[in-house]
Amino acid sequence: MTGAALDWDAATYDRVADPQEQWAREIVARMHLRGDEFVLDAGCGSGRVTRLLLEGLSRGRVIAADASPAMVERARQALAGDHRVEVTCQDLLELQLHERVDAIFSCAVFHHIFDHERLFDSLRGALAPGGRLVAQCGGAGNIDAFRCLAETVASRPRYDEYMADMRPPWHYATPEATEQRLRAAGFEEIRCWLQDKLTLPSDARGFAQTVLLNYHLDHLRKTAPPSVAEQLASAFTDEVLAEAGDPLELHYVRLNIEATAA
Ligand SMILES: C[S@@+](CC[C@H](N)C(=O)[O-])C[C@H]1O[C@@H](n2cnc3c(N)ncnc32)[C@H](O)[C@@H]1O
Repeated sequence: MTGAALDWDAATYDRVADPQEQWAREIVARMHLRGDEFVLDAGCGSGRVTRLLLEGLSRGRVIAADASPAMVERARQALAGDHRVEVTCQDLLELQLHERVDAIFSCAVFHHIFDHERLFDSLRGALAPGGRLVAQCGGAGNIDAFRCLAETVASRPRYDEYMADMRPPWHYATPEATEQRLRAAGFEEIRCWLQDKLTLPSDARGFAQTVLLNYHLDHLRKTAPPSVAEQLASAFTDEVLAEAGDPLELHYVRLNIEATAA
């Protein structure tokens, strides 16, 4: 992976990703599918949202790509037996498809990739001319308050020596910068806008460990001595959640993206 190399806890993600599924429904609705298209699910995760996409493609096909081997394995299990879909383990920045797709769908992925210029070049290369990109990811301001709390906890003496050099790949872009990058990559009919999504995950701890703090915990596990790493990871999660309060309220800001390959 060209971002921070991170494998995901795919089983827990699949269980806690209700918000992502809700967002994905809205993205699929915006695609206005005819039902016979060939679609790339860019960053398919555990395959939960791929299944939603397939509901709109009774005569179509999906290529579902993700860079996390654990996610790919889970998606393959979830979608096994459905001949309309192929799951491939690939970095979106280095996509290699045998055939160009008619459309690209993506939910909650692009902000995990720092280099949006390269990302949009790669996606443009995967699309047939006239093909649509319809996506949503974290945008400018996304869960700012929660990320600030995590940084505060990470700077406490107990964690600081292990966390000081953590560099997550997040890129929460503005609509304006994204429109420019899409145009430069060869897209037209571009529309990008932000949308607030207040979210209260039902399993706050599972959601925090798997979705919100996964880069922090992965870093801690790699940098702290193995004898204390798990204990520190657990304590770190507890401390961030205590700061965030109960119930956990997350102020998500989603960046919606629509564009056509020129
Ligand atoms: C929050 S999950 C979203 C998964 C799925 N789209 C959903 O909505 O449930 C983010 C996914 O992006 C994938 N991802 C991050 N960077 C990637 C990259 N460079 N190439 C491919 N997948 C990537 C991760 O492996 C992870 O599965």
